[in-house]
Amino acid sequence: MNISQNLRVVVISLLTSALLACSSTTPAPPAATGTVPRPSLAKAWQGQVLIGAAVDEKNIKTQGELIAEQFNSVVAENAMKPMATEPREGEFHFEAADAIVRFAQSHDMAIRGHTLLWHLHTPDWMWQGANGQPAGRDLVLARLKRHIETEVGHYKGQVYVWDVVNEIIDEKQPDCLRDDLWHRVVGPDYVDYAFRYAHAADPAARLYINEYSTEEPAKRRCLVRVVQGLLQRGVPVNGIGHQMHISVFYPTISAIDETLTTFARLGLENQITELDMSLYRWKDNRLYDTRENLLSLQARRYGEIMRMIHNHPDVTAVTWWGVSDASTWLNQDAPADHRDQPLLLDEHGQPKGAFWAVFAAARR
Ligand code: G3I
Repeated sequence: MNISQNLRVVVISLLTSALLACSSTTPAPPAATGTVPRPSLAKAWQGQVLIGAAVDEKNIKTQGELIAEQFNSVVAENAMKPMATEPREGEFHFEAADAIVRFAQSHDMAIRGHTLLWHLHTPDWMWQGANGQPAGRDLVLARLKRHIETEVGHYKGQVYVWDVVNEIIDEKQPDCLRDDLWHRVVGPDYVDYAFRYAHAADPAARLYINEYSTEEPAKRRCLVRVVQGLLQRGVPVNGIGHQMHISVFYPTISAIDETLTTFARLGLENQITELDMSLYRWKDNRLYDTRENLLSLQARRYGEIMRMIHNHPDVTAVTWWGVSDASTWLNQDAPADHRDQPLLLDEHGQPKGAFWAVFAAARR
């Protein structure tokens, strides 16, 4: 295939995906002028909301140009998590995360920090005390303090917002907090301490609770309760990160809208922090329609979400959990025939219908 044939194939596939995405509210496809138009989502949304992506040390090298073109904010998908930055007590590793920070700074991108405390990513040494005994509250808090002070201090003035705690809510627990080692060893005030340590290390950083399924009423109610408690106790919490690992089938746009409104009314900022839209239902490997129809539905729903964002000045950033469908956690450890396509760019980094829907939803 020669270059012009190649180009035609790309233009045709672009037009096809854009056309599939078409409804009365989705954008017209780009004109086929012989060149492949690929506008920048970050530029289209400039002054409205930051457009972010989760990145890793690999794709900033292999897809750096594309990332810098389409996004004006990044978050490390894994490199800033506790087990990555302090795998052994007192031994800090920031090399991988530093590379991401340097990349972002060289392209004038905002940097989110994810995350300082997560039950799934707490190294075992955190819980080990002297002589094979389990560590007690004071030791764990001292270790948490050093971890947060060191990491937030290292990125002071560079990371503008931190997911201080990640996935701490469990609506089935009487106090709405997950029954994990943090809760069992320290008690519920580990959350207060995490925020206070982070604030002391960088008073200018915005500090967030990051959580999944915040659109579900029971989860939302619990999160409200926990956040109100923090605010009443004067804990420096600034915002809620809504992960939004959603599906083409759920949740409804109005449920998302209601969640954002709920936290805005508490005077908090909102960010969408880990957005992706699966073609599947959660833990179900069946495709319920043709791939084409599901991608079309995906585009329509992405458009609806982004148009709804215009009613939310409280939403300061929307971050997708990955750069392209070539690499998404939703295909990690999945069966071979499970091929999810949850993001805006396809496996080749080309715009999908979803991309054009998000582009068209921007105010220009
Ligand atoms: O890098 C190693 C590689 O060296 C090794 O050979 C391989 C063997 O399994 O593992 C690789 O590490 C994996 C890493 O992703 C990088 O691909 C880890 O096993 C795997 O557990 C890790 O998964 C990440 C997961 O968080 C757990 O940290 C996902 O990439 C990441 O997308 C996911 O992100 C989370 C958010 O932080 C919080 N919200 C939910 C979201 C999705 O689960």
